[in-house]
Amino acid sequence: WSVKNSEALYNFEGWGAPYFLLGEECDGRVVVRPAGVCEAEIDQVEVDLYAAATAVRERLGSSGPLLFRFPDIACSQSAKLHSAFQSAALTWGLNSLHRGVLPVKCCHDASLLLSLVLAGAREGFGLEAGSKAELILSSDYSLPTPFLICNGYKDGDYVGLAVQSAALRVNTFIVIEKPSDLQYYITAVGDLPRSAHRPFLGIRVRLTTGHSGHWGPTSGDNAKFGLCAKEMIWLVASLADESMLDCLRLLHFHVGSQVSNIATFKEAMRESTQMYAELVRLGAPMGFVDVGGGLGVEYHGSQGWGGQRSTNYDMQNYANDVVAALQDTIMRTGIKPPVLVTESGRAIVSAADVLIFEVVSTEPRGAMPSFDDDSFLLQNFQSILGSMTIINQSGQQNISKIQESLNDAIQFRQEADRLFKLGIMSLEGRAEAEELFSSIRSLALDFARTIPDTNIFPTEVSLFAVEPLTWCHANLSVFRSLPDAWAIRQLFPVAPLHRLSEEPSIIVSIADLTCDSDGRIDQFIGSSGSNANAGGSLLPLHPLRVNETYLVAAFLVGAYQDSLGSRGHNLFGSPPVANLFLSGSPFHCIAQARRKTRGADV
Ligand SMILES: Cc1ncc(COP(=O)(O)O)c(C=O)c1O
Repeated sequence: WSVKNSEALYNFEGWGAPYFLLGEECDGRVVVRPAGVCEAEIDQVEVDLYAAATAVRERLGSSGPLLFRFPDIACSQSAKLHSAFQSAALTWGLNSLHRGVLPVKCCHDASLLLSLVLAGAREGFGLEAGSKAELILSSDYSLPTPFLICNGYKDGDYVGLAVQSAALRVNTFIVIEKPSDLQYYITAVGDLPRSAHRPFLGIRVRLTTGHSGHWGPTSGDNAKFGLCAKEMIWLVASLADESMLDCLRLLHFHVGSQVSNIATFKEAMRESTQMYAELVRLGAPMGFVDVGGGLGVEYHGSQGWGGQRSTNYDMQNYANDVVAALQDTIMRTGIKPPVLVTESGRAIVSAADVLIFEVVSTEPRGAMPSFDDDSFLLQNFQSILGSMTIINQSGQQNISKIQESLNDAIQFRQEADRLFKLGIMSLEGRAEAEELFSSIRSLALDFARTIPDTNIFPTEVSLFAVEPLTWCHANLSVFRSLPDAWAIRQLFPVAPLHRLSEEPSIIVSIADLTCDSDGRIDQFIGSSGSNANAGGSLLPLHPLRVNETYLVAAFLVGAYQDSLGSRGHNLFGSPPVANLFLSGSPFHCIAQARRKTRGADV
């Protein structure tokens, strides 16, 4: 077994490039390249995640989960998106600028937000707020002139805050999401002198284009926000009546998060740019098209084959298609090229966070019992086990025989349950029946894994394959640290941080330490290469060793997880967060840690 095997098993290349890779030389450990580029001197900075986590845990005196945050990764993603749009504009001969903004709801961390706006200052990188509190946070971190997009539910206070932000010379856009928002804008801005720095007005439009991902049902005609055609016409007329049509500068739409099919963006761009051209025709000065978020993340590592967890496009394809659709409308309608604004959140910050946790114990299931009960039922079980062992050892790949034995075992297991309920079988007898059955099941699963060139298990095997052969208990709360894994079955790549030059020999599902049965991670991505499999409920790990801390990580967790998780569940508190920055010359990485909440804080 070599690091290469582990690389394929956990599919690092598929979801991790260019930030996460396996180190050959340092005992098969996962390393991070926060700069994510191959420029000679920068690309030498590699952080050994196991070593860094061990040091930070020791320093903090914490054995709980730890969140590593790499603001440089977010900056690198944001720079890549910007250059993808620049290169698309060159390709299509479009004289249009790109401005990125980060929806701060994805990650509220001050260091990350500051790093992004400072690194993106020259390109005018900005922020998007979705609530009053987020607007206060964003105003604090916005630099003069770059962008601040104000989305979400509006009231007088919200609009008042946006007016203050504009007075600080931040390019502030108040986006009208529903007709009643307009009155707040007219009241707050109508009386300001024309020479004042006033917030611009944006309009969120309701597209009929929906998408088929998890958030599909909230898009299209069903969307909660956005003005329909009639309301758009009403808005333009109302602004003209108030002599404020000159304030209308931006058209915004958002088709939903994690769009897996590029066709959705093509369609949405066709519809929205046509609306933009119509607003120009109606007399609005406009100047900005804000295409919202939705740029997907390759959580599955299969480049389009993983359904909603995957994308059939990359950043450059996305930029190309957005720019091409805009260019098409410009050619058709003769409008001036607007600035393109993107609100990508997930795609910018996902890779920046790594959640590291310790496996504290494992509970094997299906250990071979010593049995001396000679009841008829147990003898039958034993004989099935015996015949399956022989089939397995002889390497005979006889699926139907295995299936037959497994069918018998299932039937005997049910029989044992019935006998126990009737009081005929003792507790010891039932215990042995359970253990024998587990052994049979695990033999069947072992056998199924040896079938070459297929990842399809016999039906009964796959039925039981969803039950873990070993529970591994991880010191974390899924509800606190990976809320989407629990709430919407979001898939995150999970892998050990070390011992990757050893073959992982136990197959587990991960149970957290909370008292709820659904506090578990039991969905994993598949492997790559010739033994590719589609993933499933089991993850290969290494058996624990005495006196060794076994650390595992969930990757790509930077979007929404920390900001959604609450400290409430089981009073577990918030895990410590360590920000690791590239710093100095020659570059090295420094960590700043936010301590976890203590029992007393909770
Ligand atoms: C209006 C708006 N913009 C941007 C985003 C960010 O989306 P994503 O993280 O998928 O890029 C969202 C999130 O759903 C949103 O509601």
